[in-house]
Amino acid sequence: MLHFLWDSISLQTFLIFLVVFLLIADYMKNRNPKNFPPTPFRLPFLGHLYLIDFKDPTVAVEKLNKKYGDIFGMNMGSMKIVIVNGMRLVKEVLINQGDKFLDRPDFPLDEEIFSKIGLIASNGHLWKAQRRFTLTTLRNFGLGKRSVEERIQEECRYLGDVFRDEQGNPFNPQLKVTNAVSNVICSLIFGNRFEYHDENFQRLLKLMYETAALHGAITSQLYNNFPSVMKYLPGAHQTIFKNWRLLKSFMQEQINKHKEDWNPSESRDYIDSYLLEISKDHDRDTFREEHLMACTLDLMFAGTETTSSTLRWALLFMAIHPEIQARVQAEIDAVIGQARPPALEDRNKLHYTNAVIHEVQRKGNVIPFNAPRMAAEDAYVDGYYIPKGTVIMANLTSLLFDKNEWKTPETFNPEHFLKDGKFWKNETFTPFSMGKRACLGEMLARAELFLFFTSLLQKFTFQAPPGTTLSLRSMPGIAVAPLPFKICAVLR
Ligand code: HEM
Ligand SMILES: *[C@@H]1O[C@H](CO)[C@@H](O)[C@H](O)[C@H]1NC(C)=O
Ligand SMILES: *[C@@H]1O[C@H](CO)[C@@H](O)[C@H](O)[C@H]1NC(C)=O
Repeated sequence: MLHFLWDSISLQTFLIFLVVFLLIADYMKNRNPKNFPPTPFRLPFLGHLYLIDFKDPTVAVEKLNKKYGDIFGMNMGSMKIVIVNGMRLVKEVLINQGDKFLDRPDFPLDEEIFSKIGLIASNGHLWKAQRRFTLTTLRNFGLGKRSVEERIQEECRYLGDVFRDEQGNPFNPQLKVTNAVSNVICSLIFGNRFEYHDENFQRLLKLMYETAALHGAITSQLYNNFPSVMKYLPGAHQTIFKNWRLLKSFMQEQINKHKEDWNPSESRDYIDSYLLEISKDHDRDTFREEHLMACTLDLMFAGTETTSSTLRWALLFMAIHPEIQARVQAEIDAVIGQARPPALEDRNKLHYTNAVIHEVQRKGNVIPFNAPRMAAEDAYVDGYYIPKGTVIMANLTSLLFDKNEWKTPETFNPEHFLKDGKFWKNETFTPFSMGKRACLGEMLARAELFLFFTSLLQKFTFQAPPGTTLSLRSMPGIAVAPLPFKICAVLR
């Protein structure tokens, strides 16, 4: 009897001791260093995960911004995160001290899919080489036989055709717009476009879209914090991994086809150019086939949903603001007319239209917190100490909606980009981020947004389906997108 009692007490003592030990270990491990930016109370083990509302991740952190100011810290599991707000600090991090914050962090989830190769998640020498090669290659397509502009114009025609097929009836434009945008990238990467009714390609696009949206799921965030446990549990992260295996095998097929009929003296597209680079890289260190695979998927991933969701915002804003839409159409009619398709050189003359497209990007705000960066070395920002390895989130929303820079930040208002009737851009317009690691596809994205938007408005008027009102509610993902909606494209 006594013996039994003693045993149970010692078990209790042991358990209490264990819990205290774990708490202290957790505290020691995750304790923030002296002079770290202000940080709210953190729960043991979970850190600040409790502060996040997964249905609308911006809400909880919004309170923190009010309470702590332009720079504050958070802990997610064992990861330290610092969020910076406002032009002064965002510029400090992305430009003035940009070289210290060029790296991407090691999120376990991203590591499994993008790995640390390719364009988006790689660092150091490898990143620099892939980025330089890709920028040069994309730029050279501008000079080639079929320029980027022509490829986009061709796709604008196809998109117009399928919109016309809807005969003014309500339809969800999501897959068609995504298919069009993705075709431009496919055309650049492997010289192919896909019909809008190609079911295999539609499935692939859905996979990509679903994968993007799943990043916001609770289980995905848990995986980032506790990968060794979550690895064995079901959840969104498992679907993400499965989808990536499928996306990879799709791209592998394209690469294999190119290897079969490869002609080093004539580069038809990005894959051809990369194969040439592989053949010149004698160390096989920087340019390898697995890196090619990662780069092409990164381009598809970074270039599709971002641009597609921006265009969907554009359609919504036009249907919600018919007077603005009418002004755009009048300008297109006056400058381009109906006889020829819009071209990039029209951009300088379409001041109002250009202002509208910029306002769509500002208000659409599709990458609100930029892509995460990481401190590659110890740094000081605004007097606060940021130890090496800290994740840095630049709050682009705080620039695009800054009350001091925009007359009516919460309202869709093209006047934000006009001065005396001419297009004019405020420095705080930074949807593509800033500095050496800003969006690699900015030129391409801007060309696409301009050509798709003007060719659609040249032909159609966008309206809410009769008896309905359109909503501007959004859903998170890799890019913030409008909730699925139906719209009428009425032939002009
Ligand atoms: C409206 C459309 C787009 C928006 C708003 C957008 C925005 C962004 C942002 C905010 C970043 C993170 C930059 C940083 O870390 O500072 C980024 C990175 C990137 N974007 Fe875009 N992007 C768009 C379209 C595209 C397109 C069409 C491509 C394809 C060529 C593309 C390729 C990339 C790549 C490869 C990166 C990673 C760059 C790196 O880490 O060096 N983006 N983009
Ligand atoms: C980002 O900026 C917006 C606009 O200033 C603000 O409402 C929000 O709270 C900020 N979010 C964070 C996490 O700082
Ligand atoms: C941006 O626009 C606002 C309002 O027109 C103006 O006060 C501000 O100085 C501009 N900012 C820059 C950097 O030009």
